[in-house]
Amino acid sequence: MTLNQQIKPFYFDITDDEIQYFLSESEKILRSGKLILGEHTKAFEQAFAEYVGTKYAIAVNSGSSGLEILLRLKKVEGTTVLVPTNTNFATVATVIRAGGKVQYLDMDEQTFAPSLQMVQEAVEKGNNLPEKISGVMWVHIGGVISPEFPQVVEYCHQQGLFVLEDTAHAHGSKINGVSAGNLGDGAAFSFFPTKVMTTCEGGMITLNNEEEDYIARSLRNQGKRGMDFGGLHTDFGNSMRITEMNALLGRIHLAKLPEMLKKRERAYELITAPLKAAGLSFVSTEKMDIASNYKLIVHLPEEKNAKEVKTAMAEEEIFLGGTVYEIPCHKQPVFAGICEGESFPGAERWCPNHICPPLTSGMTDADAQRVGEALVRHLK
Ligand SMILES: Cc1ncc(COP(=O)(O)O)c(C=O)c1O
Repeated sequence: MTLNQQIKPFYFDITDDEIQYFLSESEKILRSGKLILGEHTKAFEQAFAEYVGTKYAIAVNSGSSGLEILLRLKKVEGTTVLVPTNTNFATVATVIRAGGKVQYLDMDEQTFAPSLQMVQEAVEKGNNLPEKISGVMWVHIGGVISPEFPQVVEYCHQQGLFVLEDTAHAHGSKINGVSAGNLGDGAAFSFFPTKVMTTCEGGMITLNNEEEDYIARSLRNQGKRGMDFGGLHTDFGNSMRITEMNALLGRIHLAKLPEMLKKRERAYELITAPLKAAGLSFVSTEKMDIASNYKLIVHLPEEKNAKEVKTAMAEEEIFLGGTVYEIPCHKQPVFAGICEGESFPGAERWCPNHICPPLTSGMTDADAQRVGEALVRHLK
């Protein structure tokens, strides 16, 4: 390998043997004619629930569908949901699709998520809102679980509020012995191609309530309850099923998730070692048992500019992927009017002023060291 080999921000982790297995099993799916809601979907759901530690897992066609179903289960229509402004479009859009109102939460620079205090202040202020607060949609940004998150859940439950987890970044993340996806009242994972594991397109809901499992399965299947796929539509669902081929790929990737996470952890350690030595600051995962390491979030020193650093790294053939997130939701044109006039200083300070270097399970030790050393050169 030469020093000029490109280092890319994404890597689809699949071996030749896995491709062969996928092809031969796909042929069986095609010949069986059972293209949805078959044995692969069921086996994928069982294995995922086991991995996360929840009683139930319901596979869907995207992380967005998973979020929307969770919000419909919680009947957010006509209520206010607290959502971090530093998140993906889908977190906010699904609250609106489910008929809820959004109240943004700011972010703490140590976690890129809200703090407990931000939640408490929003809940207290929310007593004056015409639409009462029903709960929080939390996001484990970059796969980082805030050490305060268990207290957020405890506080919200005391207040009679639900806490849902947007676990789109957090496959395998764990804190205090509990996995992301099993820390609140329901979670939705995304298997979009850039994520830690993928099904091409897809998502997974995890939860522990039997009744909610039953309704979630109906909501993903045009509101048809139970195994009666006849003509009776009881719930206002949608076509949100995963295909058997997507579920098959999910089974392959889930089986190697622990191994992929170990590789990411190794890359994280090698990239961050020179950053620590140089006194550069980044979002820490040290309080967690396991981190998905979906993104390594590096704070930019005040005099540095994200675009310039990215360009300089690209000149060395090191390509940086998207950040989390460059433009917070309260600045997105599509959400104009939500929380108008309010300011979110944490997000305004840090959204444009962080970078996420490449961090994948496809990196060699030499790649990771090269990324760490280049970062130090361009950030110091
Ligand atoms: C935080 C977050 N939530 C939700 C989603 C939506 O997931 P999907 O693209 O699978 O619908 C994403 C996807 O990028 C995300 O990053």
